[in-house]
Amino acid sequence: MDAPNKEFALAGSLEELKVKGRLVVHGSHRPILVIYDRGRVYALDNRCPHMGFPLERGSVEDGILTCHWHHARFDLESGCTFDLWADDVPICPVEVRNGDVWVKTTFGHADPAAHWHQRLADGLAHDLGLVIAKAVHGQLAADVPLANIVRQVALFGAQNRDGWGVGLTILTALANLLPVLPEEEAYLALFHGARRVAADCDGEAPRRERTPLGSRPDPAALKRWLRRWTRVRHREAAERTLLTAIAAGLSPAVLADALLAAETERAFADTGHSLDFINKAFECLDLIGWEHAAVVLPTVVGQMVAARGAEESTAWRQPVDLVALCDEAASQLPELFAAGRGAHGWSDHAALARELLGDDPSRIVDALKAAIRAGAAPADLSRSLAYGAALRVARFGNANEHADWETAHHVFTYANAVNQMLTRIGTADIDGHVTAVRGILHGAMALYLTRYLNVPPARIPGEGGEHLDDLPADAETIRAALLDAFDRQRQVDLAARLVARHLTLGHSPQALIATLASAVLREDAGFHAYQMLEAGVRQFTVWGEADEGRHILIAVARYLAAHSPTERAALQTADIARRLMRGGELHQEAGAS
Ligand code: FES
Repeated sequence: MDAPNKEFALAGSLEELKVKGRLVVHGSHRPILVIYDRGRVYALDNRCPHMGFPLERGSVEDGILTCHWHHARFDLESGCTFDLWADDVPICPVEVRNGDVWVKTTFGHADPAAHWHQRLADGLAHDLGLVIAKAVHGQLAADVPLANIVRQVALFGAQNRDGWGVGLTILTALANLLPVLPEEEAYLALFHGARRVAADCDGEAPRRERTPLGSRPDPAALKRWLRRWTRVRHREAAERTLLTAIAAGLSPAVLADALLAAETERAFADTGHSLDFINKAFECLDLIGWEHAAVVLPTVVGQMVAARGAEESTAWRQPVDLVALCDEAASQLPELFAAGRGAHGWSDHAALARELLGDDPSRIVDALKAAIRAGAAPADLSRSLAYGAALRVARFGNANEHADWETAHHVFTYANAVNQMLTRIGTADIDGHVTAVRGILHGAMALYLTRYLNVPPARIPGEGGEHLDDLPADAETIRAALLDAFDRQRQVDLAARLVARHLTLGHSPQALIATLASAVLREDAGFHAYQMLEAGVRQFTVWGEADEGRHILIAVARYLAAHSPTERAALQTADIARRLMRGGELHQEAGAS
């Protein structure tokens, strides 16, 4: 029996369909449900778009098909769902020829990229995890560039809540990691980023647009104003000033300097999150294009002006006034950098990092001053700070309270953000940029205050001639053992040893990083885990494969091991979506029973 063309398959005779009410067409294609209802024939994907339950086992009434698993309801004619969480069921053309029913076995859309773009918009708007997962998968299958998907989600997030949130930070952190991720992991990364942005925006009022000033003040005035409005917590004024700077076409480096100067009007504000969010907004624009600066950058201003600075905290005032120490050092920065201007080739990054881990705040500040006089640039100092903060995590004592992991984490991600911002700002106009260097002083004091986390310090595996010969030597076996360690609670030290083993044997750090990313992406990871992973990879890139790079990845692995495993519910959603999109039958056994 020949088909009208090879895209069509015979479902059966119309008489048979009328008698049975429904038929299922199996083949190499996805199973197709053909339904006869009130004189018309319909054909749909037999797998419920929610979780794949066979729709042939559902019921039809008044043109509505109801799945009997979670009772999602669908318009029989269009496949559109009445229950948004379930998603629409794909339909396919059906033809009745000479008393036989033929169905087209290929599902698809005339413009898949446009279709899945719209579905992602729907999923984001209604915070529908399964729809988001399918739409991301669909866009990837349609060869939509990764940056386009990131852009769609980022702009949605920037416009649909009043300010930058953790979702946009997670999206940006994961998007930064996309180049080191295999294809399957890229899908997971984008899904996690998008679902967290959608969750952030769920129930929130959209952001209100502000406009730039009508004038074009010079960059120095705009920077002064931004600092002034931040000090007095005048959000509207700060946003209009920033929008004016963007409209004037100021470069990302100049904008970064202005925002970092304003941000550091307060010390270590909101335990470093405010500055980290600013840095992430810049990185987001690097990913999606600076033409979106006026949409994205102002989202950080609300938190920046409202943030609580550490100067309001007792620990920063008693028994040593760390804020006064920072203020005094900050006032000396212009002359310190002037003194260091003739010096070149400063490279004592690791040695400075160890001085920053000292227990005398005055000596810590003195070490920073000495480094500046010796020619260290702001990016050099912040690189040392980030490594020192990573060592704090790498040596985090297991006797500490679990919540203290976050204390160590905050300093590290803050230090990484300061390093990224100061690297972006550069040294072209160091005299004009010294204000932003206050971020290093604040970070150094935050690091000092966390010294108790290393009492006693955890041993860094591989140090002091320690051999790790009890561990496997083969690279893949080590990485499998690492993932296995993340499957169990309290495997902090084992994870650190495996990372040390992998790197000291000279195995690929990129493969190890991909494994760490995979470990995070399969979890219902907390906001900090994404930050930790991405900041660690950034700093590993800065420091390279020497001891320092190894210590940084050990810090990442220890933190992740302390927060694994989780329920992995999001991974299950992503997996269901992937299998539905690939056309597999998820519940054949249920259908056969
Ligand atoms: S409603 Fe159909 S599988 Fe859940």
